[in-house]
Order: sequence, then C-alpha cells, then structure tokens
Amino acid sequence: GKYRVVSTKPMPGTRWINLLVQQDCRVEICTEKKTILSVEDIIALIGNKCDGVIGQLTEDWGDTLFSALAKAGGKAFSNMAVGYNNVDVDAATKYGVAVGNTPGVLTETTAELAASLSLAASRRIVEADEFMRAGLYDGWLPHLFVGNLLKGQTVGVIGAGRIGSAYARMMIEGFKMNLIYYDLYQATRLEKFVTAYGQFLKASGEQPVTWKRASSMDEVLQVADVISLHPILDKTTYHLINKERLSKMKKEAILINCSRGPVVDEEALVEHLKHNPMFRVGLDVFEDEPYMKPGLADMKNAIVVPHIASASKWTREGMATLAALNVVGKIKGFPTWSNPNAVDPFLDENSSPPP
Ligand code: GLV
Ligand code: GLV
Repeated sequence: GKYRVVSTKPMPGTRWINLLVQQDCRVEICTEKKTILSVEDIIALIGNKCDGVIGQLTEDWGDTLFSALAKAGGKAFSNMAVGYNNVDVDAATKYGVAVGNTPGVLTETTAELAASLSLAASRRIVEADEFMRAGLYDGWLPHLFVGNLLKGQTVGVIGAGRIGSAYARMMIEGFKMNLIYYDLYQATRLEKFVTAYGQFLKASGEQPVTWKRASSMDEVLQVADVISLHPILDKTTYHLINKERLSKMKKEAILINCSRGPVVDEEALVEHLKHNPMFRVGLDVFEDEPYMKPGLADMKNAIVVPHIASASKWTREGMATLAALNVVGKIKGFPTWSNPNAVDPFLDENSSPPP
C-alpha cells in the first residue's frame, strides 16, 4: 500500500479493510488493550508518516493530534460516530485535515434503542426482571409493576433531526402517541408523516394522532409524557436539561437520553429522581463516561445502558465502512468525492434551514 491509514480500534466487519486495501492503503489497526487511548498513545500511532486516521468518540481530537497528523503528512480524519463533539473541527481545518463523521447508517438503530428505553421505562421492565431473578414473585397481583399506557400519550422530541424524527415515527406509528417537538429547524417530513398517519387513523375509524411544533423547549417539557433528547452536543446544548427544566416536567414523565451525556446535568437528574419516584429515565449516555454520577446506580427509576445506541451489527459495519470511505476519498482525491460526510452543522437533511 502506498498510503498508511491507522484505525485506533479494531472495527466490525472486513468490508472497510478491503475497501482501503483496494485503494492502495496499508491499514494499521491498534490492538492496545485499554479502552480509551490517550493523546500520547495516538501520537505514537500516527508516527512520522500517516495519511489518514479513523478514530473513536472516546478520543480527544484537538490541536495536538491534528498538528501531529498534519506533520506526518495526514490529510484526513474520520470519527467512527455521527457525533463529533470530541473533534475540534477548527483545529483540523487550521492544519489542513478534512474531518468526516458517519451519519445515516445509525439513524434507525439509535432510534430503536431510544424506543426500547422508552418501553422499558414505561413498563418497568428492568425492575420487574430484577424482581423475578431475586425470587420475589409469589403470585399475580393487581398492582404489581403497574406502568403507563403509551397509546394516546404525548411523545416529546427535543432535536428532530434524522434520529429524533426516526424515533418520533416509531413511537407515533407503533404506539399511536401524539407528537410535540422542539427544533430550530422545521421537521417537514416528520410533520407530513404525522399528518398523513392521522388521516389514515381517522379514515379507519380510530382516534387520530396529533402533532405540534413547540414554540419553546419548555412547552415540550410541560406537555409531553415521554421526552427524548436528540440534539448535538455543543456550547448551546450543554446542560440543556438542568434542575429548573426538570422541575417543569410532569411528575410521572419519562426522560430518554441517547444523544450525549453533558446535555443533561446528571447531578441534578439524580436529585430529581430521588425526590420524584414516579419520574423515570432511560440513559444510554453519561456526563463523565465511563462513570455515573454518585447515586444514579442506586435509583430504581433509572435504566442505564453503556452507550450502545448504534450497536447493531449492520450499523457498526456501516459506520466502519463510511469512516473508511471518508478517509480514502480525501486521501485519493476521488474526482467525484464531494466530501459526502464532511461534518456539517446542518445535520438534519429532513428539515429546511431557517428562513
Ligand atoms: C455515537 O454515539 C455516535 O455519535 O455515533
Ligand atoms: C392478566 O394476566 C389477565 O388475564 O388479565
């Protein structure tokens, strides 16, 4: 291979490797045992000649790494993730390194995990499972693990981009929930879907579903029974859900986070869970991964999973392939390569930019 491409982790499937090899690349995969690589580890991997790197969301891609990559002749970096809050794009640009991410292939998989957590929280699946395994079940009772009926309730989506919209569709079509959403951009396709689905239900003699684009985030928090967070993480969404906003939600609301941990003030959330036993939460992400804030693990009204929203085989192989395409496309300067997954603030292809 003429070009040296480094992947900081082994990734699922072989398609991404074959693709790089076919395009004159020598692929080096770091097999270091520790889960999170430091900046120093990655500098050592880059060495003095490296054309491109595929990296992970646990790594801090800032000035130091992009400077090292540029010095080694590198032109391209791809995160194997749709989120890229771990990447300083301005620093990459300064050193002439193109940055890519892996949207699209993880949309439905991530939305399915948000839907799973919504169902698990509303029907108290994890608590009930623990109860069974502990040998506590001694017969059917009318009040045993009573939860919520989603049908007819309102699902609130904060950030109605690709993933938020896919999640909303699942909850509306699957469980006939009404929708309220908040986004700076209009989710045109989602609105069309709910309108058409509402008409279909009406024509079949069923109660139609309704939708509303909220004029403020607080409106969603006050109205919705299940609230799912799907914004990107940046300065404007850090601690978007704080003590004050938690207090605006219904006492029996369900909050789902499959976006990024720091979108929620996790300490405030633990306090809220302690004082509101009927409030439930499903979390895939945490403020300080891999750690949880003190007290969270003890809360029966919290379901916690280790950042697995995109973890389906098809999606993870697709993410690896997209990351490889991002890197090789830039290195080889494919004439048709228009930087398809260059990071872009307009993450929602379903919606129109503001007027
Ligand atoms: C995972 O969290 C991703 O951003 O792809
Ligand atoms: C419950 O199992 C019922 O039959 O209602």
